[in-house]
Amino acid sequence: MPGKQPTILAHGGAGSDNAHSDGTDRACLIGLKLLQARTPVLEAVCQTVEILEDDPRFNAGTGSRKRSDGSVRMDAACMDSRRHFGAVSAIQHIKNPIHIARAVADSEYRLLAGEDAHRYALELGFKEMDMTRVESNAPGTDTVGAVVFDGEQFAAALSTGGTGGSRPGRVGDVPLIGCGLYAGEHGAVCATGHGESITLNLTAYRTYEMLGRGIVPQEALDTALGWFKDSQDIGLLIVSQKGHAGGSNRSMAWSTLSGD
Ligand code: GLY
Repeated sequence: MPGKQPTILAHGGAGSDNAHSDGTDRACLIGLKLLQARTPVLEAVCQTVEILEDDPRFNAGTGSRKRSDGSVRMDAACMDSRRHFGAVSAIQHIKNPIHIARAVADSEYRLLAGEDAHRYALELGFKEMDMTRVESNAPGTDTVGAVVFDGEQFAAALSTGGTGGSRPGRVGDVPLIGCGLYAGEHGAVCATGHGESITLNLTAYRTYEMLGRGIVPQEALDTALGWFKDSQDIGLLIVSQKGHAGGSNRSMAWSTLSGD
């Protein structure tokens, strides 16, 4: 039970190799240090996801999958329990989309998409990255994500290169509030896996609602995993004042750390 203890969980996506948990361990270590240094939760969770975006073994940032036409488009989102929410969709040629989502959370907008999101990133001073050289070597993995609790506030963040080989124009669950992630006074939830099924189940919000009813994270996780067919990959990270839980119906590199 974390009680008021700073806690962080990070994952490398449903389907990611459990052996790659050194990457999620590293992300948690950096994220926990940020929380211990009293970095605001939204900043801490986004910096944690940046570490995962920079790990080419995971499908986000530099590890993003190519769509059926060979192009790369990325989605990212973040939210904290003060209801700051920001997301980008179908953004390209940006190394760390999570930081653009973070900037959107601070703006008057909630979701920016496509070329205009890219232009917004450049206006903010973010550098372009040539994504045509991206060669992901991690088949079968999904979205990276993290949830954090600093003893008072909760936050969640997600970033993805989408589903490899998908039709251009396809957008999954990540930038849709309550689908891929949700955070509020009762906790934070992030999901990974088959975006269409995650969206139809309103997965993150319905899981969060269970926390609001006093259900402990492990029970909420088990219930949420049961909403999905065996053919639909799904993984979740959950943190509340009653504890934390993570798991997937596939392999999934994930880690957690707590500490004052
Ligand atoms: N879960 C990420 C996606 O389906 O795009």
